[in-house]
Amino acid sequence: MCGIIGYIGFRSAREVLLRGLKRLEYRGYDSAGVAIVNEGIKIEKRRGYIEKLKVNFDGTLGIGHTRWATHGVPEDRNAHPLTDCHGKIAIVHNGIIENHMELKNELAEKGHKFLSDTDSEVIAHLLEELYEGDLKKAFFRMIKKLKGSFAIAAIHADERRIMAAKMESPLVVGIGDHENFIASDIPAFLEYTNRVMVLKDGEICELTDDFVRIYDFEGNKRDKKVKKVEWSIENAEKSGYEHFMLKEIFEQPRAVDETLHSLFSRNDMNFDFSKVIIVACGTSYHAGLVGKYIMEELLHIPVEVYYASEYRYRPNVRDNALALFITQSGETADTLGAAKKAREEGLLTMAITNVLGSSITNYVEYVLYTHAGPEIGVAATKTFTAQLASLYYFAIQQAKIRGMIGMRRYRELINGLRKIPYKIENTLVRERRIIKEAEKISKKRDIFFIARSINYPIALEGALKMKEISYIHAEGYPAGELKHGPLALISSGVPVIALAPLDRTYEKMLSNIKEVAARGAYVIGISSQDEVEKYVNSWIKVPDVEPIFSPFVNVVVLQLLAYHTARILGREIDKPRNLAKSVTVE
Ligand code: M6R
Repeated sequence: MCGIIGYIGFRSAREVLLRGLKRLEYRGYDSAGVAIVNEGIKIEKRRGYIEKLKVNFDGTLGIGHTRWATHGVPEDRNAHPLTDCHGKIAIVHNGIIENHMELKNELAEKGHKFLSDTDSEVIAHLLEELYEGDLKKAFFRMIKKLKGSFAIAAIHADERRIMAAKMESPLVVGIGDHENFIASDIPAFLEYTNRVMVLKDGEICELTDDFVRIYDFEGNKRDKKVKKVEWSIENAEKSGYEHFMLKEIFEQPRAVDETLHSLFSRNDMNFDFSKVIIVACGTSYHAGLVGKYIMEELLHIPVEVYYASEYRYRPNVRDNALALFITQSGETADTLGAAKKAREEGLLTMAITNVLGSSITNYVEYVLYTHAGPEIGVAATKTFTAQLASLYYFAIQQAKIRGMIGMRRYRELINGLRKIPYKIENTLVRERRIIKEAEKISKKRDIFFIARSINYPIALEGALKMKEISYIHAEGYPAGELKHGPLALISSGVPVIALAPLDRTYEKMLSNIKEVAARGAYVIGISSQDEVEKYVNSWIKVPDVEPIFSPFVNVVVLQLLAYHTARILGREIDKPRNLAKSVTVE
């Protein structure tokens, strides 16, 4: 899991590569490096953040890399770019070369000297072995020998071109005038061009100053449309917020609104299925759990929700099911593996993703795009509420198509959904109140989140956000389960965050709040109901919404609570330790 970039043109390659790497940093940040052609290939790479690089050379052609270690610990020698024995060829790689041991042994027997512990280094030596004065030819021969996942860019000291290839790791091309770019993600070059081509698995790309050519692995030329990116680089920057995460939390009204608008025009949702299997990881999994409650409520059909890493290895099952994959990045390896399996099982497949042309879109039959814009903070926020918006819309449409709800209820639900951006705005104004609570809980060792029914996944999401960025131990529980064990952990002063919307579980939630309060817990109640104030130590009022939509407002409070707790503790909020934005390894 890494970010790669390549540039060829007339600008300072050093500047383009370093600025691009900074924007790719969310993909990994344990080491970084650049290689620039300038009377040979000059390389600067080291362990640590991009800022540590001391690039005192320049040119107009180069490649760069920001790394999240998989093979080989984060050390200078394992940082990319990696070279062949003579330093004439340099490569950057994102992914895993599964047959690297076999290739390494063969190459070592032929005399190649390996300097790193990475799987990627075999690519440079393979190219060296196959090179006969033409990088392009060597690249085509090399690519056929690789097994695994990769986005690769390669350069040669004596040639003015970049060769790149994609297999199960993202790669996009930026088209300029007398300059071209290749990168793992669009923001890396968006300040220079908004004309992009999204590469598909099994494609090779040749970039020179004046042209970009796409081929399949057999060398056949492929036509590819150039798309215009509508969002600007400002969208991908912090716009004055202290962290991307905070900016992204505040972008939620727009993210939900734009997602809904794109869906309102879709009339291709007439699917035949009698069961839904939702598969995802992390925050997307929590969106899937909310989806289960919505679909069971509105469609009265069974919905199973799986962690992708579990679904991948379950026995094959015959089912008239819709398999729905939720992944904001569209690149999560576990989710892609699960989608592949669902296709093999013959299930109808659909994905919800935020990234145009991401890998998941090649694995499924139908795609619903969320329109949250790029999410840079490792902690998912706006993509989560945008995923929820898609799930609600999908379920409401299905309920109408199947005659499960009449026109009146349909309109009521759609109107309720349309108002969500405004309800989120009215929740965001509670920030100062939330900061006060964050100050208190930032001193605690454990935090519990409890809720029932459709808000139970929101309790899980609140706990995930809290542990992910504040590093405080946090657990989410269905409130009714407390008495079966977790209640033993509640003692004087332990914070319990309780979500209490006015739904059919409201009275039960009040009982659970009283239960933990009686054991001395410091209870923060999140509810639209004034009455809740009587039973809790602190009450955060949220806007009134129809209970089925309450996850939208509740999750915003929990995101802000986690954010401010982490900020008070001085954590690296956008880049929490040990994590990366898209997890492209199993
Ligand atoms: O890109 P995906 O939605 O597939 O990512 C899934 C998880 O890795 C992701 O949601 C992760 O849990 C987030 N860091 C949570 O904030």
